[in-house]
Amino acid sequence: MRLRISGKMGSDLGMVVLVLGLLVLNVAVISNAAKTSTFTRKDEKSGDMPFDSDVFRPPPGHNAPQQVHITQGDHVGKGVIISWVTPMETGSNSVVYWSENSKHVHKAKGIVTMYTYYNYTSGYIHHCTINNLEFDTKYYYTLGKGKYTRTFWFVTPPEVGPDVPYTFGLIGDLGQTFDSNRTLTHYEKNPLKGKALLFVGDLSYADHYEFHDNRRWDSWGRFIERSAAYQPWIWTAGNHEIDFAPEINETEPFKPYTHRYHVPYKASQSTAPFWYSIKRGPAYIIVLASYSAYGKYTPQYEWLLNELPKVNRSETPWLIVLLHSPWYNSYNYHYMEGETMRVMYESWFVQYKVDVVFAGHVHAYERSERVSNVAYNITNELCKPVKDLSAPVYITIGDGGNIEGLANNMTEPQPSYSAYREASFGHGMFDIKNRTHAHFTWHRNQDAYAVQADSMWLHNRYWKPDDDSSAS
Ligand SMILES: *[C@@H]1O[C@H](CO)[C@@H](O)[C@H](O)[C@H]1NC(C)=O
Ligand SMILES: *[C@@H]1O[C@H](CO)[C@@H](O)[C@H](O)[C@H]1NC(C)=O
Ligand SMILES: *[C@@H]1O[C@H](CO)[C@@H](O)[C@H](O)[C@H]1NC(C)=O
Ligand SMILES: *[C@@H]1O[C@H](CO)[C@@H](O)[C@H](O)[C@H]1NC(C)=O
Ligand SMILES: *[C@@H]1O[C@H](CO)[C@@H](O)[C@H](O)[C@H]1NC(C)=O
Ligand SMILES: *[C@@H]1O[C@H](CO)[C@@H](O)[C@H](O)[C@H]1NC(C)=O
Ligand SMILES: *[C@@H]1O[C@H](CO)[C@@H](O)[C@H](O)[C@H]1NC(C)=O
Ligand SMILES: [Fe+2]
Repeated sequence: MRLRISGKMGSDLGMVVLVLGLLVLNVAVISNAAKTSTFTRKDEKSGDMPFDSDVFRPPPGHNAPQQVHITQGDHVGKGVIISWVTPMETGSNSVVYWSENSKHVHKAKGIVTMYTYYNYTSGYIHHCTINNLEFDTKYYYTLGKGKYTRTFWFVTPPEVGPDVPYTFGLIGDLGQTFDSNRTLTHYEKNPLKGKALLFVGDLSYADHYEFHDNRRWDSWGRFIERSAAYQPWIWTAGNHEIDFAPEINETEPFKPYTHRYHVPYKASQSTAPFWYSIKRGPAYIIVLASYSAYGKYTPQYEWLLNELPKVNRSETPWLIVLLHSPWYNSYNYHYMEGETMRVMYESWFVQYKVDVVFAGHVHAYERSERVSNVAYNITNELCKPVKDLSAPVYITIGDGGNIEGLANNMTEPQPSYSAYREASFGHGMFDIKNRTHAHFTWHRNQDAYAVQADSMWLHNRYWKPDDDSSAS
């Protein structure tokens, strides 16, 4: 028998069903066991490593290339941007490179730039994009000239496709303290072996110093070289990249960052380096800018509006977003700073079934339930996060170990949208197995390298959109 409901009664009943549905969803999210870790660590803030530390030592030789770092150079992973600094003079502008399978040596020419900041003058900053590489291939590259050349290597990603496994590392808010060095060491020694690093913003913390002492941008470049010269670091801009200091006449936002860290934004039709996308193996990675305009009609808004429909989940099943200021954060630090951007874009993330959003900014770790908060319309009072299987998991990984110390003051009680939170320094790994399964793990610096302090099996929102909150 078919029950027919019509007219006023029908719509009232529809409303009751809707409200009940929302209540059930609310109960569902509240019933998940939120966890605040009781792990306690010595709460000591570590200072920046002194300039004469081993990690900052320049390479030997007159004008030898230093601060070498690479990032993806095109949209699909066949290009690499290689960047370095020569301190005394321009030096060679070229990269010499070859594949391990071939003796044929290629040469590419880069560009040189420099900048001044208050009374600081940078070295010669080189950027060279090499293109049309083979997928899944090891390449060697040499920089410099004469006696003082240096050789490095990297491995290109597999061809973009749905079932190629790939492992991304995650670090945020790194800085250059002794804790930063522990975080980087733990990432390097992690047996899961990250192949590319997703960096969620706040790099050097040079702005912590008087006049934003830009020598700290140089020391940071030397510090990360041991990883960033060998695997791409995918950059997101944080608030510590703004370097806006009108009191010393430095009014060009992001000046040091944009001179030093190039990204392939034009390859995704972006008009600024702060928001862009890349494909890498099975992943489509969208980088957003918490500190560039994102309201309606702005360049970033228009770009994201056009970008999301382009993602083809048959080709790249995993849709990952990186941004700096978290949308779901239950620490009493930077509380609700991500709220205005969440209001603008969250419904799109649900509509396009983003798998996971990584953020930094808060110096701690937190993982959310799959929740959304998109029903509010000013008068309907529907302003609470509810369980939503089309929503991403939100992960805050701003616990790289910078000079500002840990965020350890949390809102109480723990809100039901928060699945796990802990104030310890560490890093993350996002280990994509195939189109349906990815394993996220969080690794704290106090543990042995292989220990997973928190973990979650994520089921892909397009290929396996079931409830994965307690999946294995
Ligand atoms: C820049 O100014 C500061 C403060 O006056 C001074 O300590 C520093 O030596 C100056 N640096 C350069 C490169 O002149
Ligand atoms: C940084 O970590 C590396 C690798 O563990 C170590 O060799 C180096 O001595 C550390 N440096 C400082 C200043 O902590
Ligand atoms: C900033 O520029 C103005 C105008 O050129 C100058 O008068 C002032 O001394 C400058 N301030 C600093 C801190 O250099
Ligand atoms: C999506 O990707 C698949 C696999 O690469 C391809 O067969 C299909 O044509 C693509 N769809 C669109 C609309 O481009
Ligand atoms: C807001 O939601 C309420 C309840 O669903 C509805 O009655 C009202 O018309 C909505 N207001 C607007 C402006 O959409
Ligand atoms: C934690 O943050 C709250 C809200 O900002 C504040 O009232 C409280 O004093 C803080 N607690 C500590 C121990 O700092
Ligand atoms: C995908 O990976 C998961 C986890 O390793 C595994 O259980 C599953 O069988 C894999 N799916 C396919 C189709 O291989
Ligand atoms: Fe930040």
